[in-house]
Amino acid sequence: MSFVSQAPTILVFDSGLGGLTVFREIVKLRPGARYVYVADDAYFPYGQHTEDEIVARVVPLVGDLIAEHRPELVVIACNTASTLVMTHLREAYSVPFVGTVPAIKPACASSKTKRVSVLGTKGTVKREYTKKLIADFAQGCDVTLVGAENLASLAEAALRGERVSDDAIAAEIAPCFLNGDARTDTVVLACTHYPLLINQMLALAPWSVDWIDPAPAIARRVSDLLGPTNGTNEALGARILFTSEQAPSPVLAKALIPFFGASLVN
Ligand code: DGL
Repeated sequence: MSFVSQAPTILVFDSGLGGLTVFREIVKLRPGARYVYVADDAYFPYGQHTEDEIVARVVPLVGDLIAEHRPELVVIACNTASTLVMTHLREAYSVPFVGTVPAIKPACASSKTKRVSVLGTKGTVKREYTKKLIADFAQGCDVTLVGAENLASLAEAALRGERVSDDAIAAEIAPCFLNGDARTDTVVLACTHYPLLINQMLALAPWSVDWIDPAPAIARRVSDLLGPTNGTNEALGARILFTSEQAPSPVLAKALIPFFGASLVN
């Protein structure tokens, strides 16, 4: 008798569309899973909310989503939330969770100049969690925390087809580039929205650095936790849900195609 396991449902959660940069890496490794992508756009941006507000918002909301969609695994594809809520979520719900936290360890391990910047939301760079990662894993590197005011909103705007000025992006990334005894050579993308702007950031950087995007590593973690696939790589469909319940504009719907391909079912 052969045993064919059911395709797992994976719930990917973010404050907005940034988590799509994690979602697309997971889909590459697990094309045969079912996906529910949830953008909490009614509460975006998380970077502007207090820690208490984020915990009070995310923990019950994720609980409701688990009850509704019955996922085998939940990915919190948001640094601003993950640096706060993972313990609360694991205490409250029995489904496995994968979070997204600043990739300080690999960045510091690979920096040659020993000068690393962490580019995140104002919330993420203030967190005790982030400071602890630096205390534990800086490995002799000088780590500069850069809290971007609007970069996540700029990334959303760009994806929604609005014009985003180079000056606005350049101003947000400028504090990452330190040029003293040694130059910054590594920048951690500590917000899942930022890889959406990677081409602009590459073009606007004052010099070339390694931009560390943890999404492929997160995808590997997800795949390891799910275990062997049931052998089918056929896309089973993905849904995208917005907590604002607003339907995507035609421009956004088009921008979502590279992430979802033909698998978008809603
Ligand atoms: N995508 C989220 C992150 O990774 C943050 C964006 C926001 O401020 O909501 O931190």
